[in-house]
Amino acid sequence: MLKDKKVILGVTGGIAAYKAVEIASRLKKSGAVVRVVMTEEAKKFVTELTFQEITGQPVTCNMWAEVQHFNVAHISLAQWADLVLIAPATANILAKADVGIADDFLSTMLLATKAPVVYAPAMNTNMFRHPATQAHIASLKARGAKMIEPASGLLACGAVGAGRLPEPADVMAEIEKIFSVMRSLAGKKVLVTAGGTIEPLDPIRFIANHSSGRQGYAIAAEAVSRGAEVVLISGQATVEPPAGLSKFVKTTTAHQMRAAVLADFADADIVIKAAAVADYRPKNVAENKIKKTDRDLVIELERNPDILKELGELKRPDQILIGFAAETQNLLQYAQSKLEKKNLDFIVANDVSRQGAGFQGDTNIIKIISRDGSTEDLPLMTKRELSSVIMDRAESKLK
Ligand code: PMT
Repeated sequence: MLKDKKVILGVTGGIAAYKAVEIASRLKKSGAVVRVVMTEEAKKFVTELTFQEITGQPVTCNMWAEVQHFNVAHISLAQWADLVLIAPATANILAKADVGIADDFLSTMLLATKAPVVYAPAMNTNMFRHPATQAHIASLKARGAKMIEPASGLLACGAVGAGRLPEPADVMAEIEKIFSVMRSLAGKKVLVTAGGTIEPLDPIRFIANHSSGRQGYAIAAEAVSRGAEVVLISGQATVEPPAGLSKFVKTTTAHQMRAAVLADFADADIVIKAAAVADYRPKNVAENKIKKTDRDLVIELERNPDILKELGELKRPDQILIGFAAETQNLLQYAQSKLEKKNLDFIVANDVSRQGAGFQGDTNIIKIISRDGSTEDLPLMTKRELSSVIMDRAESKLK
């Protein structure tokens, strides 16, 4: 599975650096081409020569030594990699990677790479549990990085708890899993909608909602990371589209979103509608600014098309159609009724009145309700983590 995969193994300065030698060896034996990047601190625990002999490749330690191999070395190496594994990952590298400090080769390369990055944190248990480290880990995960959970036990410093680098065989199992997920949607087309629609009232005012696009954009990013051809159709959003999309369409009104969705629906394998679409729009859009008078103003609204319902009618048995339900009461009942009316494979229900759920934040709390009547209750997670669960469920339906 790892044959000819290009892996950068970043080794940072912790006692567990000795285990990185066996990880490098196992990666090489499974067919990967391994380039090791060491920090200066890592060199105090293991030597460059060891990694060089094991991988058969030059080892990179500082910004300037490798100019004979790579033109602007940290950029070339960053672009070369299919995957970057940082093992062991110290509290220091996690913090630097999170905030974007680029003060040595490894941290600079982490900023420049578009390859998936996997961290295997290893440190004293108090350092690992410290809110600062946990915040960096959460933030990196929210941006799509993968974490290999540290093992628990007696640590080199004498403390007992979580913080040990897992055994090399376990790290390898995680890497193989990550590579298999990276290809799991190769050849499939995933259509995602995100953000909120805007319905104009006059040239100045409009009806909108609180959607930031975060949940839908995270789903699109997850589908990209699994090798799918991803079309993201967005309403108003406050976040940047993820890298690697095949197509990005920016729309304003529900009518525009409907047209864009229908144009890409027929050959989509999985369709996920996370967008918050206005059910109604002003019946008349004033050509000029509506002037205030002494009287109240009544705005007449008319129905917008229900895009998801239309897709449910068009859907072929080989297509997977997933909707969202944003509710503030009777979550399960309303979501169930949407699942049936819109002919969905499953619906992702979020009670947007709950703290940490719904609009704008980086987290959500969801229930996944399937056609077979089963309901999966997920705890508060980042939108990126939930996207991974949603894509796992979508993939299993596809099979
Ligand atoms: O963007 P964020 O800030 O990250 O917030 C995420 C979110 C809360 C917007 C997202 O998690 C979510 O719940 N999206 C759906 C919001 C919504 O409009 O729900 P709904 O119950 O009104 O619609 C049900 C489903 O029908 C949705 O899949 C919606 O895209 C679709 N729909 C609704 C109305 C309409 N006219 N056409 C549609 O296709």
